[in-house]
This record gives sequence, C-alpha cells and structure tokens, in this order.
Amino acid sequence: MVPLTLGPPKARPPEGASLVPGVGAVTLVPPWLPGRHFGAAMLCYALGAAGLVFIAPDLAHRNFFLPRVVAVVHLFTLGWITLSIFGALCQFLPVAIGRGVRSVALANASFVAQTLGVVGLVAGLSLSSRPLLLSGAFALAAAFATFSMNLIATLLPVKERNVTYWALAGASVALLTTPAYGVVLAFNLHDGVLGDRFSTVGQHAHIALLGFVMLVIVGVAHRLLPMFLLSHGASERPAWAAVALLSGSATSLALPVGGAPRLTLAGALGCAGTVALIAQAALFFKHRKRSAIDPGMRLAGSGLVGLAIAVVLAPLSLTRGMGDPRLLTAYFMVLLGAVTLFVAGHYYKIVPFLVWNHRFGPLLGKRKVPRVVELYSERVAHVDVALLVSGLLGLVIATYLGAAAVARAAALVFAAGAWLQVVVIARVAQKRVA
Ligand code: HEM
Repeated sequence: MVPLTLGPPKARPPEGASLVPGVGAVTLVPPWLPGRHFGAAMLCYALGAAGLVFIAPDLAHRNFFLPRVVAVVHLFTLGWITLSIFGALCQFLPVAIGRGVRSVALANASFVAQTLGVVGLVAGLSLSSRPLLLSGAFALAAAFATFSMNLIATLLPVKERNVTYWALAGASVALLTTPAYGVVLAFNLHDGVLGDRFSTVGQHAHIALLGFVMLVIVGVAHRLLPMFLLSHGASERPAWAAVALLSGSATSLALPVGGAPRLTLAGALGCAGTVALIAQAALFFKHRKRSAIDPGMRLAGSGLVGLAIAVVLAPLSLTRGMGDPRLLTAYFMVLLGAVTLFVAGHYYKIVPFLVWNHRFGPLLGKRKVPRVVELYSERVAHVDVALLVSGLLGLVIATYLGAAAVARAAALVFAAGAWLQVVVIARVAQKRVA
C-alpha cells in the first residue's frame, strides 16, 4: 500500500493530471462535480436537522413509521449520506483505486436524478401524494442504478484488486437491491401490497446501511483514514473480513427465500462485519503518528463508537422488533446517527483539502499560502463536535425514556451543530487567494 501523507506536493503534475499529496499524479474529476454533490448534501443536512427538531416528539412517542418521520429519515439517508458518498467517490476514486469515475456525464445524471428523487420522495411523504412519492422513488432508483453502472464500469479495468476494490464492487450490487425494496415500500404505503411491512422495512434499511453505506465506508476509509490520521503499518485483515461479512449479510438480506434462519444469519454476519470495520478503524487510530485528534477525526471516531453501540443493541432490538418499539427506535437512531457523525467528520477533512488543493496548492512556493488546517477555526469545530455528539446522545436517551420535550431540546442542540457545520464548511468553500 502506498503510504499517504498530507505534506505539500514536491513536483509539477503532468499535463491534465493533478498531484494529490502523498498519492502522486492522478486525473481528478472537475471540482464542480463533487462540489455540487456536497452542496446539495449540506442543504439536506440542514433541512434534515430542522425536520428532526419537528419530529423529535414523534420519535419519543415511538411513531417512527409516520410518513413525516420517514421523510426526515430520508433527508439524512438519501440526501446527506448518499449524496456525500456519491460526491466523495467521484472525487476519491482516482486515489482509492487509481482510476477516475468512468463517465462524468453519467455521474452528473445520477446527481440530478438523486436530487429530484429526494425532493419527490420527501414531498410525496410530507403531502401524502402518491404520484410525487412514486416519481421520487423511481428517480432515486434510476440514480442508484446509474451510479452503480458507472461504478462497475470504473472498476472493471482495474488491475490491483485491493480491499477498496472489493468493498466498492459489493456496494455496487447493494446500490441495485436497495431501491428495489424502496420502490416496493413506496407502493405499499398507498396500495398496501406487502404482507409484512415491518420486516420489509428492516431488510430495506439494513441492505442500504450494511451493503451500501458501510461497504463504501470500509473501502474509502481504508484510504482516507490513514491519510487523515497519518497512520502507517496497520494490518489490513479486519478490512478484508469486513468486506466479506458485510457483503454476505447484504446478500442474505436480499435473497427472496430462507425465512427466519436467513434473517438470523444476515444479522450475525452484519454484526460481525460492523465489528471488523470498527476494529480496522481502531487499528488506524492506534497506528497514527500524530497524537492529537482533530475535530474531523473526533467526529468520525464518535461515529465509530456509535456503530459499536448499535452492534450491542442490534440483537435484542431486532429480535424483539415491534414488540419493543422503544428499543427499536433507539437502535435505528443510534445506527443512523453514527453514520451521520462519521460522514460529518469527513467534511472537516475533505472540503478544506479540496479547496486547498484547487485554490492554494498551485501557488505553493510562489507566494505565502495558508495551511489546510488554517482554512477554518479548530476551536469552533470542536464546539461543533460537542453540539452534534451531545445532541444526538440526548435525543437517543430522551427517545428511549419517552421524554418528548427533552427529545425536542436535544434535537435542537444537534441541529445547532449541523447548522454551524454547514456555515463553517460553506465559508471554507468560499476561501480564495487574497
Ligand atoms: C433508493 C431509494 C430509496 C427509496 C425509494 C426508499 C423508500 C423508503 C420507503 C417508502 C420507506 C417507508 C416504508 C414504510 O414506512 O412502510 C423507507 C423506510 C426506510 N428507509 Fe428507505 N428508501 C430508499 C433508500 C434508503 C437508503 C439509502 C437508506 C439508508 C441509508 C434507507 C433507510 C430507510 C430506513 C431507516 C427506513 C425506516 C424509516 C422509518 O420507519 O422511519 N432508505 N424507505
């Protein structure tokens, strides 16, 4: 594995390529492509946080199947998490697997379909409109399928089939199964086509989270965490195990046959895969050369702690199911909150790095340029970490205890953190050479 560092580039890149510090010369996508994904994702993050304040009492009353709750859930899952992942993949595929995304036009098409789909799905759920809900679900299915095909076309010619390669290959399959369940669930909301709605929702959510989101986290974090933490020499074995176990879990979840034993197997594989993911990340943290942990990595680390809590809650909450809605709601909040924090942490690393690379990097040696960490106030970012983590923790506890007013107050603290982060990152994105 190439050792990755964030030191300044030492030589000029060849024509048409950019020097990525620590990686070398690679052809990067035009900055507007990840930029527009990240911009739309941040908007969904801000709106989702506002929605969370609104629906917090519903969560405390365990009404998580209400359409308005499902709408807020998808502002986070499809808006914040998925758009961030698509944008990050567009930007980091050259670093992660040595090849840029196969088609920029297709990546842009999936971006357009994804944003229209989020608007349609959220509006359809909020206004109880069947046409809007279904058109949103179909647009999202098109976006996921387009991104998956683009990803597969990018992966096919790659020679070095490393952890990241196999993680992304697995994720590209889950990108096809996730919307298949999503579309059926959307039909079911108005037409009642499913016998067991609740089990189907559980399978849909876990295929999306284990098979798509976590596999991408394993693959991409495998390159980014060592770079951001200045970590060298960690074993890669847990990551290989995570890829195999999470893929196995998502595959068993997607199979149409097998009944309860299949779901038990999927649950066991999913928990083991998540533990392997956490173990790999912990190794990266342990082997880091820099002892201080910056706000971005602190948030990502908090997300990993959240995933560990979700693994503990999963067996009990998923076996009790609708028999214990309090625990089930808390479990889903911990799981989605953990991924939300992990993604949020990476914004503090990725956006300043991209802005520096595009606007300041080319001027290095010609004039005085700020360092990447000087593009935002670390003190403010630490306050942000405290708001996001304490808000989420308070929300989960208040929900479990059924305390609606406390849940709303905690959601407000979390939302303050999300809005603060949006402001900080938007200001970083506007930084230019004076
Ligand atoms: C690809 C497009 C998607 C569509 C069309 C879709 C659609 C839906 C629908 C209609 C429901 C409501 C089911 C019901 O209450 O009966 C639902 C629930 C859910 N989905 Fe999705 N979904 C998609 C992607 C995702 C992704 C990527 C994730 C996670 C990363 C996700 C996580 C969830 C969760 C956690 C629930 C349960 C929410 C709750 O009950 O409050 N979905 N989805």
